[in-house]
Amino acid sequence: MIKDEIQNLRRELNEANYNYYVLNAPTISDLEFDKKLKELETLERENSQFFDANSPTQRIGSDINQQFIQVAHQYPMISLANTYSEGEVTDFYNRTQRALNQDFELVCELKYDGTAISLIYENGSLITAITRGDGEKGDDVTANVRTIKSIPLSLHGKKIPEKFEIRGEILLPWAEFDRLNRERELQEEPLFANPRNAAAGTLKLQNSSIVASRKLDAYLYYMLGENLPAQTHYENLQAAKLWGFKVSDAMKVCKNLQEVFDFLKYWDSARKNLPVATDGVVIKVNSISQQNFLGLTAKSPRWAIAYKFQAERAVTRLNSVSYQVGRTGTITPVANLEPVVLSGTTVKRASLHNADIIENLDLHIGDMVFVEKGGEIIPKITGVDSSQRINVGQKVIFISNCPECNSLLIRYDGEAAHYCPNENHCPPQIKGKIEHFVSRRAMNIDGLGEETVNLLYDNKLLNNIADIYELKVYDLARLERLGNKSAQNIINSIEHSKSVPYQRVVFALGIRFVGETTAKKLVNTFVSIENLEKATMEELTKVDEVGERIAQSVVNYFADNQNFEIINRLKLYGLQMMLSVEKQQAKTDVLAGKTIVISGTFSRHSRDEYKEIIERNGGKNSSSVSAKTSFILAGENMGPEKLKKAQSLGIQLIYETEFLKIISEE
Ligand code: IVH
Repeated sequence: MIKDEIQNLRRELNEANYNYYVLNAPTISDLEFDKKLKELETLERENSQFFDANSPTQRIGSDINQQFIQVAHQYPMISLANTYSEGEVTDFYNRTQRALNQDFELVCELKYDGTAISLIYENGSLITAITRGDGEKGDDVTANVRTIKSIPLSLHGKKIPEKFEIRGEILLPWAEFDRLNRERELQEEPLFANPRNAAAGTLKLQNSSIVASRKLDAYLYYMLGENLPAQTHYENLQAAKLWGFKVSDAMKVCKNLQEVFDFLKYWDSARKNLPVATDGVVIKVNSISQQNFLGLTAKSPRWAIAYKFQAERAVTRLNSVSYQVGRTGTITPVANLEPVVLSGTTVKRASLHNADIIENLDLHIGDMVFVEKGGEIIPKITGVDSSQRINVGQKVIFISNCPECNSLLIRYDGEAAHYCPNENHCPPQIKGKIEHFVSRRAMNIDGLGEETVNLLYDNKLLNNIADIYELKVYDLARLERLGNKSAQNIINSIEHSKSVPYQRVVFALGIRFVGETTAKKLVNTFVSIENLEKATMEELTKVDEVGERIAQSVVNYFADNQNFEIINRLKLYGLQMMLSVEKQQAKTDVLAGKTIVISGTFSRHSRDEYKEIIERNGGKNSSSVSAKTSFILAGENMGPEKLKKAQSLGIQLIYETEFLKIISEE
């Protein structure tokens, strides 16, 4: 039977996933895995009545932009009290002993430094995944969590409660964090400061296929519900491990305080060899009935505490503070330090982030400062040793003028950073704009790397993005390091860029806050550059996802005469300055103001095509059904969850042919 075949394949693939991602012990080759996955994909496509959102084929995510719906937690997600010394751990132990007045065990576990998640399972299947949010309610990130291979989508084993919740930490392993940052560096995107931010940022991406491409991992550490398999925390987690969850082996039941201290001591150094970030140990009372007896305070449970490892710290002298101007004019203060060794590397500089941080530290030149390297790539200054403040120098006052061009700096409401507003004359900004303009996702001009741009700028051959189109082979070839052939290649690539579509040109201009997605939205609404130039605040803020801040930035950009001139020159050189005729003709606003969820399989267009059709007709895609959904574009075999939700909210289903009539494709 086809149904059995599908089920067998799903079971085999789930098992293979479990062995690979949870146990780190692969049982079949990648080739074999891919073959079975393809087989399953084909069977599911041809027999869509057996669709299951928890099938191993659904782990690849989707590129439909999702909006996250807020969901209330059944049990609030409170956090733990932090302790930093063995003395405080002893206090916790004594407090617990006094309150219980009977024998008790403690479980020590590592404290994983990622982002917390709550997973709800019903009848052995993953139903919902919710972020911590404010502790009372969080975001429904189920679609993204489904792509995490170490999270089981369906469970197998004994004593699985009909419904339960399991909490854990989603992490981006160090190796993946490094890979991601290297990739972002190449694409000139801002780097993640630490794996925790990277994991949290990834989990909130709207496009779940990008989430799938970043290899998130998850450790589970707390089970909640009514009919749990055991009476102790430890045994519950061991059961969870057998059902398919990744539960750490770095866990110990301790009978006395000495065993707890041994655990702390061992893992303080052993954790450095783990593939993921940890920042402490969580100590929990093992018996669930004792946990219940101890109860909660307003902020945290009385039955558990977190012991935080001391971040590696050094003390050194602050020699001076310098200020760097970034490509978009952001000013970053940097502390220049007396060199000091910290976790095996010599540290000479530390980021000071922004003016508020300098003010809060009350920094003075010559201060002895504490430098820490806690899971961050760039060390930071965490405090001043004021006991050593003798003969101290001047108080550090954040600069008021740009160190490169002397313009008066500005600070936007609600933002921590200072900016240099002199976009068109401040050297690092001019060069930055040019580098952004030629980058791969913008105009994709090969051969104009940072060094060449610097050289061309210094030789006064490039002063703005329009100058690129005046460059001659001769100009380039006579510069150091560039031969005739590479010069010709660059010129060819520049010529080629004249056919880059209008939406990428708008992105390439480097208007502050206008990224790729916003550029696309602006272009679809204001089909030519002339229309965009004339657009008012009111018209701009009507565009989906364009708020006051972006709108103001667009208006400011075009109000600047120099930008106006640059654009006129770009027009003369023949760059694309309007949406192609085909795209314009294909565009209507019949779906304006509508939020549409696509569900099921279709025969006339693919789901991705429908997604684009919706956007072209002024509608908005969303991946989850909510009260805001205008209608569901329903295909064959809609997901049962979506169907249920749609019915309960009374949301209309519109089928394929009907939909094509609405947008008059029929
Ligand atoms: S137990 C009510 N165990 O640390 C107790 N938390 O400040 C629930 N964390 O919110 C948490 N590793 O995000 C627990 N082994 C572990 C943990 C852990 C990391 C995180 C979690 C929690 C926060 C506590």
